[in-house]
Amino acid sequence: MTEPETHTELQPASPLLFVMGATGNMGGEIARQLLAAGARVRVGVRSPERVTESGAFAGAEIAHFDASDASSFGALAGVQRMFLLWPPGTDVTKDVLPVIAAAKEHGVQQMVFLSILGAERVRIVPHRRVEQALEASGMAWVFLRASYFMQNLSGVHRDDIRVRREIFLPAGQGRTSFVDVRDVAAVGAKALMEGHRNRAYNLTGGAALTYAQAAGIFSVTLGKRVRYVSPSPIRFVRVVHQRGTAWTFALFMLAEYTVAKLGLAAEVSTTVAEVLGRPPISLRQFAEDFRKVWL
Ligand SMILES: NC(=O)c1ccc[n+]([C@@H]2O[C@H](COP(=O)([O-])OP(=O)(O)OC[C@H]3O[C@@H](n4cnc5c(N)ncnc54)[C@H](OP(=O)(O)O)[C@@H]3O)[C@@H](O)[C@H]2O)c1
Repeated sequence: MTEPETHTELQPASPLLFVMGATGNMGGEIARQLLAAGARVRVGVRSPERVTESGAFAGAEIAHFDASDASSFGALAGVQRMFLLWPPGTDVTKDVLPVIAAAKEHGVQQMVFLSILGAERVRIVPHRRVEQALEASGMAWVFLRASYFMQNLSGVHRDDIRVRREIFLPAGQGRTSFVDVRDVAAVGAKALMEGHRNRAYNLTGGAALTYAQAAGIFSVTLGKRVRYVSPSPIRFVRVVHQRGTAWTFALFMLAEYTVAKLGLAAEVSTTVAEVLGRPPISLRQFAEDFRKVWL
């Protein structure tokens, strides 16, 4: 953590909290945790009809909000605190900075932003530009600098494990401090409800593991051997593209796993435990909780 805890501006007593990206991993989990805690929540989504029909987020207001469409920014009216993310593949200048400006104009007081571990060091990542804009905005900011999500293994890599019984990615023997989306969301929800100000949280799991160790955990949990294969960069990109992944995303993944291979994804912090008062969820627990996903 960067500096001692400086909560809170608990005015009004029950602030309106805005969550974008609620149809995705992190926004969805934050919205659910906020609603379970009894907070006043407005989710901003690109397809409100679909979300309303699905019955998800009962108790929340559901508003149309598209970061690429300024005509939807009225959804921020009356909001005190906001969860913001950089939607993968979008342009920071066109799709995120206008949201920050609109939030400020609408009187939003605090922005909780989903960033990545090491954003302050790897200045070319889009997340750092967003962080800098928030630092300069005059609004209170919180950065959730998250490590690699465990949920990538139940999302983009699900079929590697479920169908092919392998973890196939070019991270060599590099270690990764896998973090559960539920833990990052819990820190984000707490920051929103308590009104944390100007904090950068490095959010990791409790251990840095190689993917060979991760495969071992899945083998035990699933009762079936899951092997780890670390292909060459060219083979990785070619194979995942053949399996239907766009070239751009394949290259993005290659960069991400090369970072891990170089040992740059191995930082383990104690922040999750410090903020939540309990240890982070382990990869073994994650695999057990979502076991059915890979069967
Ligand atoms: N995966 C990791 O290991 C990891 C680790 C650290 C940080 N991160 C960061 O986490 C972020 C992604 O979070 P996630 O995994 O929760 O995302 P996700 O599951 O891919 O979902 C993306 C969300 O963004 C929404 N979205 C897309 N374009 C939008 C737009 N123009 N306006 C408003 N909403 C839009 C999507 O809504 P629709 O349903 O309408 O498309 C969806 O709800 C990225 O910034 C990534 O760099 C990821």
